[in-house]
Amino acid sequence: MKNILVTGGAGFIGSNFINHILKERDDYFIVNLDKLTYAGNLENLKESENNPNYVFIKGDILNNELVNYIFEKYKIKYVINFAAESHVDRSILGAEVFYRTNVIGTNVLLETARRFEVERFLQVSTDEVYGSLGPTGLFTESTPISPNSPYSSSKAAADLMVQAYYHTYGMPVLITRCSNNYGPFQFPEKLIPLMIINTLNNKKLPVYGDGLNVRDWIYVIDHNKAVDLVLEKGKVGEVYNIGATNEMRNIDIIKLILKYLNKGEELIEYVKDRPGHDRRYAIDSSKIQNELGWKPEFSFESAIQFTIDWYLKNQSWWERIISGDYIKYYNEQYQNK
Ligand code: NAD
Ligand code: TYD
Repeated sequence: MKNILVTGGAGFIGSNFINHILKERDDYFIVNLDKLTYAGNLENLKESENNPNYVFIKGDILNNELVNYIFEKYKIKYVINFAAESHVDRSILGAEVFYRTNVIGTNVLLETARRFEVERFLQVSTDEVYGSLGPTGLFTESTPISPNSPYSSSKAAADLMVQAYYHTYGMPVLITRCSNNYGPFQFPEKLIPLMIINTLNNKKLPVYGDGLNVRDWIYVIDHNKAVDLVLEKGKVGEVYNIGATNEMRNIDIIKLILKYLNKGEELIEYVKDRPGHDRRYAIDSSKIQNELGWKPEFSFESAIQFTIDWYLKNQSWWERIISGDYIKYYNEQYQNK
């Protein structure tokens, strides 16, 4: 049995990871440490909550004593750090919690993992640490780190710290840098679920700037399979880019959602641009494909339809979210736009 600490496992990607992995493997015992911030939701984990290979602990990765207790009690040998503040717009409204959780929180985990001599420490990072691309080119693992938002700078700081622990202490670390994810259980502040839900509610669709910014979209299960593979087979000290070669302009995604839901383009509303808005992200994932044999399995065409259908079928899941504290954030973020 591999005892794995998964942090942030009640969020979008972490909960999909746990649900997927517990179905696929019986050699993992997963301890999920999550603070249950606004983005954490135990409803995402209903199908896993009674699994004997799974335990949930509500707590903060910044809590040294708790983290120490978990490593000791569960004899943790592997760590996957998904826990983070993850939304760029929120980082622009207030950056401090991003540096606390994403940087200092990662340090608490690293220090504890070092003391307990873990076998693998996988830091889940993002392509946003590379900054923004012009109209051509792709991010490779050797593209210089050049983050532009408080969010991406906090993730970049964590990446550099994780690499320093490899060089200084020989810690067995791995870093994955994935492009934009979509799929079930994504919090509706992010582009795709926000646009699906606003369309279903006949609300305006706020497009930042000219709508021509490009993101490289990957289905969440493809990301999670890559994370699992890197945990098992990745070379320590290395970075692995993860992406599905699926660049899309924001406006094209929005039009696709409108068309699928049979709604008209009059819902589209161009609003003030995001400050420091990165123009284009695009990932070269040939390293993980050539060295570890990973490749994306889901086509955008079918996985985006599955995702839209999931939001249609799981209305009560997102209605509970948008009727709560989220209203305050939405009004603050989209006022004066
Ligand atoms: P999310 O915001 O949906 O979930 C984050 C989870 O972390 C939540 O459950 C939250 O409660 C938990 N958390 C936050 N602060 C915590 C703390 N101090 N202690 C313990 N738990 C805490 O985020 P996500 O989209 O699932 O992203 C997961 C990871 O993947 C993040 O590290 C993010 O940077 C990275 N990533 C995300 C994307 C994407 O497209 N969403 C792409 C690449 C990388
Ligand atoms: P987002 O989902 O916030 O991911 P990230 O900024 O981390 O890539 O946004 C994806 C793209 O969609 C980004 O270019 C910003 C844009 N966007 C809008 O145009 N309107 C919105 O309301 C949101 C949330 C995002």
